[in-house]
Amino acid sequence: MRLTVLGGGGFRLPLVYSALLGDRAEGRVTDVVLHDVDADRLTAIARVLADQAEGVPDAPTVSVTTDLDEALRGADFVFSAIRVGGLAGRADDERIALAEGVLGQETVGAGGIAYGLRTVPVAREIARRVARGAPDAWVINFTNPAGLVTEAMSRELGDRVIGICDSPVGLGRRVARVLGVDPDRAWFDYAGLNHLGWLRGVRIDGRDELPRLLGDPGLLGSFEEGKLFGAPWLQSLGAIPNEYLHYYYFNREAVRAYREADQTRGAFLQEQQARFYTRMASSPAGAWEQWDRTRAEREATYMAHNREAAGAGDRDADDLESGGYEQVALALMRAIAHHQRTSLILNVRNRGALDAVDGDAVVEVPCFVDANGAHPVAVAPLPEDATGLVRAVKAAEREVLAAAESGSAARAVKAFAIHPLVDSVTVARRLLKGYAAVHPGLAYLR
Ligand code: G6P
Ligand code: MN
Repeated sequence: MRLTVLGGGGFRLPLVYSALLGDRAEGRVTDVVLHDVDADRLTAIARVLADQAEGVPDAPTVSVTTDLDEALRGADFVFSAIRVGGLAGRADDERIALAEGVLGQETVGAGGIAYGLRTVPVAREIARRVARGAPDAWVINFTNPAGLVTEAMSRELGDRVIGICDSPVGLGRRVARVLGVDPDRAWFDYAGLNHLGWLRGVRIDGRDELPRLLGDPGLLGSFEEGKLFGAPWLQSLGAIPNEYLHYYYFNREAVRAYREADQTRGAFLQEQQARFYTRMASSPAGAWEQWDRTRAEREATYMAHNREAAGAGDRDADDLESGGYEQVALALMRAIAHHQRTSLILNVRNRGALDAVDGDAVVEVPCFVDANGAHPVAVAPLPEDATGLVRAVKAAEREVLAAAESGSAARAVKAFAIHPLVDSVTVARRLLKGYAAVHPGLAYLR
């Protein structure tokens, strides 16, 4: 089985490869094709993978190319994990938003809109090329903002594109741990959009165990989301929000913490990764160790400003383990390729599963997966406050899609302006002006 990875020179690729190396089952991935627009990044990552494969019998072969059509030829699965504008673009997204007093996070608020505006046209073109060159391939989208980008690609690929994120799995695992239940036996009633979802129930043997957690402030205070949001707010909501909702529920505090920080997340990662890729080019010995050290530092500092704003302290040791993205991707691939029925929380077209949005809207909900793809499971309606947020954010995403399709700058301004975390049309206009001045990928907007 052949897996093609777009953005194959990306830093987190070794996580995917280590999941593939651990898969000894029949029908596993045997060939990995890495595509990237940057040949040096491909070389660097290929070195890490070579280290990983050492001593592993029948390790999947790895080839690299900068030719997209060649990369897609014969692919059974395509992982799309690109970053249009690179980490420098991510840092610009943050800086320009923060200068206007609004959030620049890559998936939430003004930053997410800016990143979406330059990614959607590229993702859509990739989807077209897949539809032409590898019509039988399944596309698994990792590219952020993952819900929006998956929806853009679904307009070309229908249900053959599925978006993934590890945050619902991570949340489920943490909640299962504090409840003392086996996550593999639990049903997680989670619903919303990517980075905008709520865990409303955890069923074990048919009984909902979440009320036991919500009723116990001690337990609530013992894990990441409890520390971020505080027990009283979780009790008010009657649900555990995705960690990215911290940017909504504590927006002022998050914006302040990001403004006061020495460096934004994007700027930190830009520097950190520049160091890694430069070192790989000059002294590639011990590629795996160098990579793993960099990864560990990245994990330890994940959402550090939010945790600081909430007084939440350091991340739990258990949360520093990987096992998120790559395991979801592997499970999804196996279920489709071998008709091994399973359930996963995925980003797919709604088709009536969540009543807050229409059938074509990509939502993040539990799905059954088999050889026919991902089938969203009908979930209970969200409460009104959550429905309102989901609708408002989906409306902003739809403006991004419309702007990308029409090239209309007015629609791009509207996307910023109607987002619940942008509080003024004037600010929206200045944001687009600021972003267009630094991002060549926005030149299409007139
Ligand atoms: C989580 C999110 C991803 C994000 C990743 C890395 O897993 O769900 O969407 O890409 O963290 O975040 P970072 O800030 O390290 O790039
Ligand atoms: Mn994510």
